[in-house]
Amino acid sequence: MNPHALHKLSYGIYVLSAMDQNMAYGCIINTAFQITSKPARIAVSCNRDNFTHQKILASGCFGLTVLSEQCESAVIGVLGYKSGRDTNKFAGLDWVSGPGLGVPLLPKMGMATFECKVVDKLEVGTHTLFIGEIAEAEITNASAAEMTYRFYHQVLKGVAPKNAPTYIESPDLQKSGELWLCPVCGFEYDPALGHEDFPPGTAFADLPEDWLCPVCGVDKESFLKG
Ligand SMILES: Cc1cc2nc3c(=O)[nH]c(=O)nc-3n(C[C@H](O)[C@H](O)[C@H](O)COP(=O)(O)O)c2cc1C
Repeated sequence: MNPHALHKLSYGIYVLSAMDQNMAYGCIINTAFQITSKPARIAVSCNRDNFTHQKILASGCFGLTVLSEQCESAVIGVLGYKSGRDTNKFAGLDWVSGPGLGVPLLPKMGMATFECKVVDKLEVGTHTLFIGEIAEAEITNASAAEMTYRFYHQVLKGVAPKNAPTYIESPDLQKSGELWLCPVCGFEYDPALGHEDFPPGTAFADLPEDWLCPVCGVDKESFLKG
């Protein structure tokens, strides 16, 4: 089996969220899709180890925000690489409580939001497929482009972490050449290309000491040289 064939499946990037005792929880997922239109239902695949999983079970509801290409990669870093078990991930985020079910939503970082009531679930090994009936849905930015998994990989240079269903184990994190690799999310800093405020030709050593991985927020010191 060539596991890279799985990368040919198309996905979007979403925030799956839940509210429990007035606290917001959530994580990044790439696995959300509509199942039926009457009644309108969508499914999401959530790893059972994710804290968000616990909170969806506890509250019986979930929120889904469709992220746009304008969403800052730091948002994906916080929601996709940290756990609500250890930190309040929503503390620094511009979120609202949905008008329908009160689930946390991120309308400014996305283009559409859904509030769903869990009506069924299917345990599939490491993950649970939650089936949600849509109670409320809004378009929050009609002109934005939705963030696809391809955009996430090719433009933001992000990779799938362990709890994503699309994760593929990489035995050789160390690569040759001048690349510097984030050990958490796999972001590659290539001095020949630079990144954002740092123009092409900026050596890794010349990045400020407080520079952080633009995808997951890991500190510069943790990066591995290829
Ligand atoms: C691009 C990307 C896609 C992801 N897709 C999924 C997914 O489909 N399902 C899932 O359970 N976790 C997925 N994850 C992993 C969770 O976001 C991650 O494990 C998160 O830290 C869980 O946080 P929590 O413990 O607060 O719920 C994905 C992460 C990223 C960055």
